[in-house]
Amino acid sequence: MSQSRGQWSSHLGFVLAASGSAVGLGNLWKFPYIAYENHGGAFVLVYIAAIALVGLPIMVAEIVLGRRSQCSPVGAFRSLHGDRPGSKLWAATGLLGVLAGFVILSYYCVIAGWTLKYILMAVSGQLGTMVSDGTFNDFFGPFLANGPEQTLWYTLFMGMTIGVVFFGVKGGIERVTKILVPILFAILIAMAIYATTTEGFGRAMTFLFRPNFSELDTGAVLEALGHSFFTLSLGMGAMLTYGSYMRSRDSIPKAAVTISLIDTFIAILACIIMFSIIFTENMEVQKSSTILFTTLPQIFFKMPGGSLITGFFYLLVAMAALTSTISLLEVVTSFAIDELKLKRRQAVMLTGGSIYVFGLLNAWSLGANDTLTNVNLIGRESTAGVLGTLDYLASNWFLPVGGFLIAVFTGWVLTNKSSREEMEKGHGPLPWYTGWRALIRFVAPLVVGAIIVSVILGAEYQ
Ligand code: PHE
Repeated sequence: MSQSRGQWSSHLGFVLAASGSAVGLGNLWKFPYIAYENHGGAFVLVYIAAIALVGLPIMVAEIVLGRRSQCSPVGAFRSLHGDRPGSKLWAATGLLGVLAGFVILSYYCVIAGWTLKYILMAVSGQLGTMVSDGTFNDFFGPFLANGPEQTLWYTLFMGMTIGVVFFGVKGGIERVTKILVPILFAILIAMAIYATTTEGFGRAMTFLFRPNFSELDTGAVLEALGHSFFTLSLGMGAMLTYGSYMRSRDSIPKAAVTISLIDTFIAILACIIMFSIIFTENMEVQKSSTILFTTLPQIFFKMPGGSLITGFFYLLVAMAALTSTISLLEVVTSFAIDELKLKRRQAVMLTGGSIYVFGLLNAWSLGANDTLTNVNLIGRESTAGVLGTLDYLASNWFLPVGGFLIAVFTGWVLTNKSSREEMEKGHGPLPWYTGWRALIRFVAPLVVGAIIVSVILGAEYQ
């Protein structure tokens, strides 16, 4: 199997592809609004702690499982577990990851599709006109409810994703992420430099970095934990799959630390940029979950060169989303290649095609179709519609449960010798190996177990 398997051409190739997977709507859309809702400061600190103590160790674990087994999630658990009793449970863990990839991709592409519409509206001048004559205030709701529009942008985004994965690990994924990820950094850093010149910059920094622990509740702690999974692409085998294409001479710990740092840095940079301009304009944030699509465009257009800045900005969001959707599709595709013994191109068409058809249900659940819009199996406001329900299931159940099982498997099933060997391969002796092992055996399962129990008791992370 390993001979026909793809491989990254370098350490940098892997780090950029995996960072591309991690950095996405989670950083640019979700993190700023949950940081805003949870009053910044203390929440940001807790989030950083969650990344360091739980996210990073689990990321190392996933890459170890992937590179050691040279398999996609289902095969990885199966082959590393061997014939001992309980192997079905572990194969099911892999399957849960594939299911999560399927589900997340089916709605992530809907949201990502909106960025294409915004790029077009910005460069054509339409967005500028709507902002200045006030009609932009009534744009978003009807846009979501417009079936043909949602279908169009969703189809385009899914098409781009399928197009990249079609060309494989080196020729598609690595080639595209190597170009997009550096451009993304450059645009973000340029925008952050601009943000430092605005009046609201000081307030933004205070908001983000002066913790006030009296504003922190348990809900916020759990939300920070839950989000650390989503943002680092953990709990569903994306890092495992990418890790399986890693060369044996490259260092896993080094890569995992770099990816986590980049992801955290970008989430915080996004907040600095957005809050600086929101505070400068003293903008009322009505609904924080739509900051990215309703608040920001209005501010951008007040700046000199508004359409250009806005166009660039949504291009950035689109690129970040694309490098994440690629990794979601790759998990499902590599499963089809390994388990159904298909050729890559057939596998991509089969998996991409079925996810596409399924995802139409999400695209039409924002007002276009009454039945799809009104289903609400969970019964909360945020879980209304097919898209709301699936996002709830994936972020609250699939990823935490997957992460828990991955931590338990790596800490308790995989032998100490195997994990040490894999971590030191391409790196050399690791003095803090024991520290990592304690985190993966005890801290991660306990903390993630606490998330799961809290979800059962009714908390929710979106
Ligand atoms: N990490 C991505 C983001 O922050 C989302 C993602 C989750 C991608 C799981 C792959 C797997 O947007």
